Amino acid sequence: MTATSATSAASATTITPTAARVVDAVKVYGTGDTGVRALDGVSVDFPVGRFTAIMGPSGSGKSTLMHCAAGLDTLTSGTAHIGDTELSSLDDRRLTLLRRDRVGFVFQAFNLVPTLTVAENITLPLDLAGSKGGKGGKGDSGDKEWIDALIDVVGLRDRLHHRPSELSGGQQQRVAVARAFAGRPDVVFADEPTGNLDSRSGEEVLGLLGRAVRQTARTVVMVTHDPVAAAHADEVVFLADGRLVDRMESPTADKVLDRMKAFEVPS
Ligand SMILES: Nc1ncnc2c1ncn2[C@@H]1O[C@H](COP(=O)(O)OP(=O)(O)OP(=O)(O)O)[C@@H](O)[C@H]1O
Ligand SMILES: [Mg+2]
Repeated sequence: MTATSATSAASATTITPTAARVVDAVKVYGTGDTGVRALDGVSVDFPVGRFTAIMGPSGSGKSTLMHCAAGLDTLTSGTAHIGDTELSSLDDRRLTLLRRDRVGFVFQAFNLVPTLTVAENITLPLDLAGSKGGKGGKGDSGDKEWIDALIDVVGLRDRLHHRPSELSGGQQQRVAVARAFAGRPDVVFADEPTGNLDSRSGEEVLGLLGRAVRQTARTVVMVTHDPVAAAHADEVVFLADGRLVDRMESPTADKVLDRMKAFEVPS
């Protein structure tokens, strides 16, 4: 692991390292006449320490891109990389380890374990990793400090011993965000993380993702339909019909909305 820490990224005068990227990504579901070309030659990189939003109409391939970039699904052709690792070069076991150790996930449905407390849910990835021999180079005390800092970032210190059912939706999603970052992953992928939240809780979770990127120098890739959500990102990439059609730096909700309108097909 050389230039993948955000500190070195910030001080580097050369190219920013990428946390994740896909090159010429094609994904076809099914075969023949019924085949769907969900990704049609997408190349995109997600730089270290950046918050990127993926937008586009329903069915444009956003979730497919995220799943293939994160190693949850495989490409039909092209390559997907986490850091310097090309995912198709890994066998199933190595891919599972990579997902566990280097990638975090936040989904629309919070996916917390109902019988575990907030604290136990947050440390679950580390506990699972520990029971399988731990991860080289990341000591227990370092983990403890990191988790402690995360709990403050997500503002859950007074809820640590509650169960998910005793929390609001927004609080549950904050737990899911803390869990996604617990293993200090290279990149956190979030698919519509605010899709089940009211606008206020959604704002909290988005603010939190932004702070996690800026304060802890992590990388976040978020799929969203919502221009207000996308405005929290450093950059928006736009998909249409399985292709990358635009990128926007320093997005605002209004600018994103204008760009989205261009996709609308009059019916
Ligand atoms: N498992 C699958 N089998 C067959 N087709 C699929 C599968 N998953 C997705 N597709 C198709 O691939 C295309 C892209 O789907 P994807 O879920 O990536 O879109 P999306 O941009 O995430 O849409 P949404 O905004 O509605 O979530 C769609 O036409 C979809 O029907
Ligand atoms: Mg989707």
